Amino acid sequence: MAGRLDGKVAIVTGGAQGQGEAEARRFVAEGASVVIGDISDEQGASVAASLGDAARFVHLDVTDASQWAAAVKLAEGEFGPVSVLVNNAGVLVFAPLQQLTEADLRKSLDVNLMGTFHGMQAVYKSMKAAGGGSIVNISSFGGMTGLPALGAYVAAKFAVRGLTKTAAIDFARANIRVNSVHPGGVDTPMTQAPDGTSTDDAPFNLTLPIKRHARPDEIANMVLFLASDESSYCTGSEFVVDGGGLCGLHNLMSG
Ligand SMILES: NC(=O)c1ccc[n+]([C@@H]2O[C@H](COP(=O)([O-])OP(=O)(O)OC[C@H]3O[C@@H](n4cnc5c(N)ncnc54)[C@H](O)[C@@H]3O)[C@@H](O)[C@H]2O)c1
Repeated sequence: MAGRLDGKVAIVTGGAQGQGEAEARRFVAEGASVVIGDISDEQGASVAASLGDAARFVHLDVTDASQWAAAVKLAEGEFGPVSVLVNNAGVLVFAPLQQLTEADLRKSLDVNLMGTFHGMQAVYKSMKAAGGGSIVNISSFGGMTGLPALGAYVAAKFAVRGLTKTAAIDFARANIRVNSVHPGGVDTPMTQAPDGTSTDDAPFNLTLPIKRHARPDEIANMVLFLASDESSYCTGSEFVVDGGGLCGLHNLMSG
């Protein structure tokens, strides 16, 4: 049976665990060749090895433009021009604005925003050579609304949403589509307790129409759709996968 990503060459950042790992696994299952980029070398290499010949790992700190150039070169050398990029690597910085340090704000902007910026610039020529492609930028529901003690994160994720829209316009002539995905809480190491257990029962989840975190695969399903040609008329748009978290205040009254 034909895969939904047959013939695609993808780079997935932050693919050593969590959502990025789920996306890399799903992409390979659907026929893509995948380069996983992460700063977590051992974990990333082990995910790639478990995927066999269709996957490679590259050390990639998304804040570093020269590492991006090397990652794209590796993808091209191993598999051909890049046709899909998932800018998934991200960091969560917790601090109420009164206590937020400049260093922490810069860290969030560096990884979440600048990483996405470098990634889009780095793949542009390769995607153009491939005849076009799809870029999926992982923002957050925090890119659509304020969240307590998450100013550094929310600022970066709003910016990713804005940059996505501009990229969709700037890259359109090269037949490159660019969309953002806005997950609510997802059951990954980012939200899990230090011992790896889920925080599904967090008080915030009880206010949701769907009263739990998303599973990484539930986000990967959306990313897969956007990476594939099934989303051929979608660009510059926001795709929310949040269990209804952005529905409104009535969530709090739903019992
Ligand atoms: N988990 C959630 O609740 C949630 C909700 C909304 C959005 N998101 C976003 O989804 C994306 C994936 O998060 P996750 O839940 O899988 O988290 P995670 O912490 O499990 O995984 C993040 C990955 O990014 C990598 N990473 C961090 N800094 C990097 C850098 N400078 N260069 C390369 N890789 C780097 C980490 O090593 C890790 O493998 C992130 O952009 C995150 O902000 C997460």
